[in-house]
Amino acid sequence: TTASDLSALRRRLSDHLRVVPDFPSAGILFQDLCGVLAVPSLVHDIAEAMVAGFRHEFDRVVAVEARGFVLGTAVAQIAGRPLVLARKKGKLPGPVHSVEYGLEYGTAVLEMQQEALRAGERALVVDDVLATGGTLEATAELIRHDGADVTGHAVVLDIGALEGVRRLAPDRVLSILTV
Ligand code: PRP
Repeated sequence: TTASDLSALRRRLSDHLRVVPDFPSAGILFQDLCGVLAVPSLVHDIAEAMVAGFRHEFDRVVAVEARGFVLGTAVAQIAGRPLVLARKKGKLPGPVHSVEYGLEYGTAVLEMQQEALRAGERALVVDDVLATGGTLEATAELIRHDGADVTGHAVVLDIGALEGVRRLAPDRVLSILTV
């Protein structure tokens, strides 16, 4: 992917993004990606940029519930790599690994099936939005639990002010757009 391809992709992405004030609660500026996910060629090109950004150097794609599933599926298809789901607590039949992580208010639990990754396999994590980085940090911990490696994290949007990239360091983060 060349630099001009990337800036054209960013423009198309911005055109289909919608920012919703006070959703889901007062004071939150919600980044609505539904309009992005609705355009097949845009989802395809985003996923292709993610695969190219990591030069195909991963064995599996780990997609994070819920919108990460959509993008992770596209990335897995394009890369020809198996898909692994990281899900909210209680959704996956066991045995699973669980990691609790902090949210703005309270905590949540993310789970992955224990057999999903083998030691030494390289996983690319895919999600829609990077905010505080808590979700991707928990996902990376799940991946590393049985000795698999994190190639990096690919997201459509990075909310720069929340410093998720710093929280995930030294893991590499590729975001198509930083807002
Ligand atoms: C959103 C988003 C990321 C996460 C980012 O998911 O899709 O997964 O928040 O936030 P963080 O970087 O501060 O952890 P959400 O919890 O809304 O779940 P959903 O995708 O299932 O709606």
